[in-house]
Amino acid sequence: MKSETIFLPETDSTNSVAYALAEKGAGSGTAVVARKQSAGRGRLGKQWQSPAGKGLYCSIIARPRIEIIDYPLITMTAGLGIALALEYVCGIEFQLKWPNDIYRRGLKCGGILVETSPLQNHQKEKFAVIGIGINVNNRREDFPSKIVDKATSLYLECGKDFELNALLETIRRQLMVRLQQLEESGFSLILDQWCCKDLLIGKQLKWVTQKRKVIKGKSLGPDERGRLHVQDKNGQVHEVLSGDISLVKDL
Ligand code: BTN
Repeated sequence: MKSETIFLPETDSTNSVAYALAEKGAGSGTAVVARKQSAGRGRLGKQWQSPAGKGLYCSIIARPRIEIIDYPLITMTAGLGIALALEYVCGIEFQLKWPNDIYRRGLKCGGILVETSPLQNHQKEKFAVIGIGINVNNRREDFPSKIVDKATSLYLECGKDFELNALLETIRRQLMVRLQQLEESGFSLILDQWCCKDLLIGKQLKWVTQKRKVIKGKSLGPDERGRLHVQDKNGQVHEVLSGDISLVKDL
């Protein structure tokens, strides 16, 4: 069955549009895509710069038949699907930075923002909106100076432009396949494949908790619940559920 796509020349955030559609009952696989966003958002209140026609800005509605407790696994599952789709389209490898970033050569190429319906509400049908931002046809000068040395695009990696709608279709297909795998076989197979692309494993990193506490340590990788394990210099292992993670040179 072909999934529906809503194309918008401009919107504030495709996640907001998709969320409203999902609340009204839009089906799994429905995608909202915009040429430009005026208020694109990332995780932890960050902005997602969305210049017209340069990147892919889309949000895909998913209604996976999984337990509520497993909903946090959607972010890593989506990350794997998107990385595999980009590898298929570009013919090069990508890495995943826990929990939601797509990297290439140590530079950020894309991010995912998953927003879910209130999961405690058992009466209503639950859903997730998977917001995907990929730097596609951006030149270096298209990136703001603050991120230009930390970002890359498919154009910069492959030396050619990509057609955004074709890219969306490949991503949606891979995403739905991986979500089906999560439903039918659980997370372990997805985790195995995710770990093959883990950018942080064994590296020293800094974790800023939601209460702004800073913890430094070595990444031991994510576990079967999607929590990142970080070992500090005293040997204590912290289980990270959320927060900001960045690489550091040394402890
Ligand atoms: C991140 O790196 O923190 C996640 C970025 C997610 C950006 C995408 S662009 C399409 C969708 N709409 C939004 O407002 N955000 C996501």
